[in-house]
Amino acid sequence: MPSFEASRAVAPRLIVLDEAGSTNDELADRAASGGLPAFTALVTAHQTAGRGRRDRGWTTPAGRGLAISVLLPAPPPADAAWLPLAAGLAMRDAVAALLPGADVAVKWPNDVLVGERKVCGVLGRLTAHGVVMGAGVNVRLTRDELPVPTATSLVLEGAVDGPDLDDRLLAGYLARLRGLVDGLLERGAEASGLRAAVAAACSTLGREVRVELPDGSALGGRATAIAPDARLVVRTASGDEAVAAGDVVHVRPASSSPG
Ligand code: BTN
Repeated sequence: MPSFEASRAVAPRLIVLDEAGSTNDELADRAASGGLPAFTALVTAHQTAGRGRRDRGWTTPAGRGLAISVLLPAPPPADAAWLPLAAGLAMRDAVAALLPGADVAVKWPNDVLVGERKVCGVLGRLTAHGVVMGAGVNVRLTRDELPVPTATSLVLEGAVDGPDLDDRLLAGYLARLRGLVDGLLERGAEASGLRAAVAAACSTLGREVRVELPDGSALGGRATAIAPDARLVVRTASGDEAVAAGDVVHVRPASSSPG
């Protein structure tokens, strides 16, 4: 494992494990014992039982990806939905810094895409001691190692695979995440600029989308905005719907026609 020198300078505490089942579970367990400061991060490059959204797994083969969990202070309930979006934006910015010139964006709510390919997924978990926010990044997976053909990795997209690649990614993510979360807690999503920054980074807006909802139904239309409560506004044939959770599929590119 790298030494994570830059990341250690950013995090109040950084726990580096050679291997973990799920970093989210591991950090939640440690937080339950008490004494961990907010923004403690736990990281491994070999996650053996990672959890993804909607009960899917998340693969982090040894040394090929990074599984990161960060203990965040729980915001007031009205702002809670912004935390996962803040994490997606923070990771988008950290990835973009490693891939100059690349088209790096957030797919609502928090997948990080390079072009149309997913390089990072985010999954949060509310605990009695704060929110454990997990992010899995494909760092140096080869094309053959990708879990699905619609995924990609930093190295496949051109990141230079030096000894400090993981540390640069993690330090960039942790610093940006802290700034966004502090802003959210102090001033809210609107006044802190979080809503505007997420909207600017979100390639879902303006696109025709299909949203697969948690109850198994789906809706289709054009994604038009991110609402003040972090929901995605979709203009459907029967009017605007605000979606709180679901898997978004970008159906086709945005057209330049209004509405
Ligand atoms: C998704 O399905 O897109 C979300 C994947 C989230 C995976 C990360 S890896 C670090 C953290 N630990 C887990 O068990 N899951 C999250």
